[in-house]
Amino acid sequence: MTTSSDGSTPPPGQPSLRTLPKAELHLHIEGTLEPELAFQLAERNGVVLPFADVDDLRARYDFSDLQSFLDLYYSCMTVLRSAQDFTDLAVAYFARAAADGVQHVEMFFDPQVHAANGVDAATVIAGLRAGFAVAEERWGISGGLIVCIVRDQPVASADALLDEIAPLAHDLIGIGLDSAEVGYPPLLFEDVFARAAGLGLRRVAHAGEEAPADYVWQALRLLEVERVDHGIRSIDDEDLLAHLATHRVPLTVCPLSNLRLRAVADLSMHPLRALVDAGVVVTVNSDDPSYFGGYIAANYEAVAEMGFDHRELAALAENSITASFADAARKAELVAAVREWVAAL
Ligand code: HPA
Ligand code: ZN
Repeated sequence: MTTSSDGSTPPPGQPSLRTLPKAELHLHIEGTLEPELAFQLAERNGVVLPFADVDDLRARYDFSDLQSFLDLYYSCMTVLRSAQDFTDLAVAYFARAAADGVQHVEMFFDPQVHAANGVDAATVIAGLRAGFAVAEERWGISGGLIVCIVRDQPVASADALLDEIAPLAHDLIGIGLDSAEVGYPPLLFEDVFARAAGLGLRRVAHAGEEAPADYVWQALRLLEVERVDHGIRSIDDEDLLAHLATHRVPLTVCPLSNLRLRAVADLSMHPLRALVDAGVVVTVNSDDPSYFGGYIAANYEAVAEMGFDHRELAALAENSITASFADAARKAELVAAVREWVAAL
């Protein structure tokens, strides 16, 4: 198939996947930091990045696994210091998301990493919320924030973060779990997630990205998550697939992330089709689009390259809306928009 990788050139007679209304449910705002903005913010804040220039930084976007990416990602995050920095970052992302047809965003952020750079959670939250206000006004985008626990930091640090955000819980929609997966199983965070639920936070977790299907079971049974982020290793466990399908637990799959972090050797080996065939509610997302070679439309385009036609892609977009934490009225509005797109095919 001769389609462009950025979703901008549809097959003859077909609309661009950029026009398909969709929700983004797996997006680390820090993973949208483009090299140009990283250098601008470094200058604004007097931070010296350990890279010569934008080209040098971009040349390092060649990852062997999750950890090799995380090392660079955390290094770039040192440039983010003020609420305004986070607003600028978020608005830059929303402009790209709006151009890709995104109507609703549930956004991850990593306060423990920002704390190490001297930025408290309240500053990050205020800056990102100001970004959401711009997104709603300019592009009609809805959504909210999911605070992520960095799982390779001590559990006591996650507990301290919950103490810090408890008074701000009404400004958040949920809690997630990210960073280096293998060796940091969900079971470590059972109490943290129970506390978060007590604060009224919805629960999601990265599981089964690099670690085995057992981590997905732990996230479901011990953390009581409502969605699983990545979850692709579920493909190795038939009972788990049946459980996900029966209970309609969505997976937030990120094809270009899986490719760039070598969770799959190439897109033809990606388990997305098999997950859909097993009846799992699959959604398509961009994870850290600045680092992984494409925003969400490019991820839908990658799924098209796996052999999904426009109707099937629209079904995945509809999944993204029904799997979101939007209220019923907003979901109905966005589902109707997807169905209009299908009716015009
Ligand atoms: N996995 C784990 N942690 C992350 C990721 C991811 O894909 N992106 C940003 N932090
Ligand atoms: Zn992620």
